[in-house]
Amino acid sequence: MTNILKVEDIHVYYGAIHAIKGVSFQVGEGEIVTLIGANGAGKTTTLQTVSGLLRARSGGIEFCGEPIGRVPAHKIVERGLAQVPEGRRIFLRMTVQENLEMGAYTNNRDVADALDYVYAQFPRLKERRRQIGGTLSGGEQQMLAMGRALMSRPKLMMLDEPSMGLAPILVEQIFEIIANLHKNGTTILLVEQNAQMALSVADRAYVMETGKITLSGTGKELAASEEVKKAYLGG
Ligand SMILES: Nc1ncnc2c1ncn2[C@@H]1O[C@H](COP(=O)(O)OP(=O)(O)O)[C@@H](O)[C@H]1O
Ligand SMILES: [Mg+2]
Repeated sequence: MTNILKVEDIHVYYGAIHAIKGVSFQVGEGEIVTLIGANGAGKTTTLQTVSGLLRARSGGIEFCGEPIGRVPAHKIVERGLAQVPEGRRIFLRMTVQENLEMGAYTNNRDVADALDYVYAQFPRLKERRRQIGGTLSGGEQQMLAMGRALMSRPKLMMLDEPSMGLAPILVEQIFEIIANLHKNGTTILLVEQNAQMALSVADRAYVMETGKITLSGTGKELAASEEVKKAYLGG
């Protein structure tokens, strides 16, 4: 399998705080890979480092076979890596469609095509395209954040806790969408505290604890692991 993303022994600091202590993982083309772990484990820090918003002090990051550890964040986006941030961060005063257009970057080329593509994945957003972002439900805002990331037709979409703060029924809907995007060929790196849902859709998974990866395997293997069950699946 061709690696889209390869993270090799990265160390990341916030001042004197050693937040990421030698993390390595890969995402292959077409895969959905999840990083699960408790609050504070270092999941967001890892994603921010991959997307270029934070810098690793040592270690390497390759995207589509090229090192990106020193590439500015906006150039990394142009190369095809899109991040859906924790807490969604949509533009609350803009309409759904305006939010989506903000995600299109690329020279206005195929904005109409990209909108068609995103509306096909999210019919709900199409129905609500003139609605103001701030008036959407939490689940719809998450769909909008994902749709905005997909407007740039990324080679890799990174999702930071898409289920955060959503009612269980909406969590299920969001994971159904994630599974569908994967089925339609999107490569996904998913960060989640909701281990059960994340493992149910993932090809492969890594467990993070206090800045390190402590376990890895297929989604099925980890869902069946006694250690994971005890620590993350409530028994
Ligand atoms: N801006 C920051 N300044 C200092 N420490 C931070 C900052 N952001 C996160 N941390 C610390 O880094 C560690 C990892 O945090 P984070 O990556 O946000 O974890 P997660 O996303 O898994 O909840 C935590 O100990 C957290 O307190
Ligand atoms: Mg986080």
